[in-house]
Amino acid sequence: MTEIPAVYFLARCRQLLSDRFAELGLELTPAEIRTGEPEIDADLAVPVFRLAKTVRKPPEELARHVAETLNLTGTPFTAISASGGYVNLKFQPCELARQVFEDYHGISPGLSGQTPERYGSFTFGTGKTIVIDYSSPNIAKPFSVGHLRSTVIGQALYNIYSFLGYRVIGDNHLGDWGTQFGKLLCAYEIWGDVAELSRSSTRHLLDLYIRFHQEAKEKPELERKAREWFRRLETGDPVARTRWQEFVRLSRQEFERVYQLLGVRFDHTLGESFYAPRLQSVIDRALRLGIARREKPPAPLTAGEETVSEQETVVLIPLDRVGIKVPLLLQKSDGTSLYATREIATAEYRIEQWHPEKILYVVGNEQEFYFKQFSAAMKLLGYDVPCIHVNFGLIRLPEGRLSTRAGRFILLEDVIHEAIERARAIIQGRDLPESEKEEIARRVGVGAIKYADLSQNRVKEVVFDWNRMLALDGDSGPYLQYAYTRTRSIMRKAGNLEIVDFHPETLVTPEELNLLKQIALFPDAVIAAAQNYEPHRIANRIYRLTREFSFFYDRIPVLNAPNPELKRSRLALVEMVGTVIRTGLKLLGIEVMERM
Ligand code: ARG
Repeated sequence: MTEIPAVYFLARCRQLLSDRFAELGLELTPAEIRTGEPEIDADLAVPVFRLAKTVRKPPEELARHVAETLNLTGTPFTAISASGGYVNLKFQPCELARQVFEDYHGISPGLSGQTPERYGSFTFGTGKTIVIDYSSPNIAKPFSVGHLRSTVIGQALYNIYSFLGYRVIGDNHLGDWGTQFGKLLCAYEIWGDVAELSRSSTRHLLDLYIRFHQEAKEKPELERKAREWFRRLETGDPVARTRWQEFVRLSRQEFERVYQLLGVRFDHTLGESFYAPRLQSVIDRALRLGIARREKPPAPLTAGEETVSEQETVVLIPLDRVGIKVPLLLQKSDGTSLYATREIATAEYRIEQWHPEKILYVVGNEQEFYFKQFSAAMKLLGYDVPCIHVNFGLIRLPEGRLSTRAGRFILLEDVIHEAIERARAIIQGRDLPESEKEEIARRVGVGAIKYADLSQNRVKEVVFDWNRMLALDGDSGPYLQYAYTRTRSIMRKAGNLEIVDFHPETLVTPEELNLLKQIALFPDAVIAAAQNYEPHRIANRIYRLTREFSFFYDRIPVLNAPNPELKRSRLALVEMVGTVIRTGLKLLGIEVMERM
């Protein structure tokens, strides 16, 4: 990512510190400075091991030397000490409070005019585009929990990059093309049932698909027929097309219901079929450039669901020269295309159309090797736009506990409805109008699912645990939503006053200062989340903030503060906390409510 301007308090501190180190002849880069590490008794810690090498001194000695000589005048730092090979610094409480408040209200120079809702946002993405490929379920198959993860992570990254000023293009790359549709059309021709299709479409299509595979084991002519059907589809045969369109329509209806519940949207839902007219030119171009070859594969080749034997003449891109043993298959002997062919056509289209800085593919770990092949092929074809696989682990389901099992798969819609039901039970006794309860239950239930996913490192697997997910007192979505409602309730009781007079010098307790530090750390979390494609950086930060808020809430009187200045300042603090929790949750795609 490009240079990130030092607009927020902590970044300004790092810059300042690096400048002061330069005065001592030491070249410290701001990124070396550590912040927000709970195990260190410092607000900023500078490890000097690298610097010590350059000046040929023991790190302890250099740290001591810096602590004694560093000029602190005009800085927001008060105490400085050396500890081992570290230089430790603390904030002046009043400066911390003042500067965080000014950042929040858009008073600080680099942030002038920015509204509180945009605290933690950046503008350096302005003028740049990023394409995010997410969700991307397959037509005629159930929306799986894997696709749920892609949807939730993809939407969060979408929100985060928008918050940095990027133009973000979200594209739902539906799996609506490929030989499996030949199989489906073939199966439908033989065993299809119109009534069943309209009653329970995905179920029926899945049954047909499963049946095809079972029967094809004994009747190999089915495979041939299926290939013929797909060829008909690719060449625009009207019967094949009309039926296929109906499958697509029915599946999309079901997907739409899931997206509605989740509150997810896309800029485009183009799907693989959209690129059908471009496939031949992809193949021709790759051949012309000498990147692809028409030949018999050295050994039987498996690509996704496809297998070709070493007797067939196919078009493939050999990748051994970039260290990948398995070639990428572009065209089978009967002239039909593959997932990878459509992938390249898609990427070409996105690059032509939107000129992105990079393209993110939010897809599970199981396609890791395929994406290595694909991005290597893109480079060979001369495209320099990075195609980045944002991979993730599986969701593990506690057997039997996860609601309806319809056959071999879990209906995602049932999972979401169950989360909403369980959320409803939590707020059952509350004195709120029914319609409001309904909406709160949806937000809490959906928020719980999303937070459980996004609060963990995305490459790890997620264990689906209802109790943890919905706990009001743990690291959960509902816990954060609840904390937000507490901040709102304080503000309502205070008469929602405009925070005009803030007295930074009045905030001195550890509870107050810890809150301010967490708020100060928020913009860094946004950057880290974007740079590493890791929404959990934001989740973890607002969780820490929320925990600090609980300590504060239990110990520090706000509405009954001993004097009006203090009350005003604490209210301003509570307001900032609420907004930052809300912003963080919003970036994760989680909605809040005024009360619950
Ligand atoms: N439909 C694919 C699947 O379910 C995921 C597509 C991901 N996006 C992509 N450009 N390959 O496996």
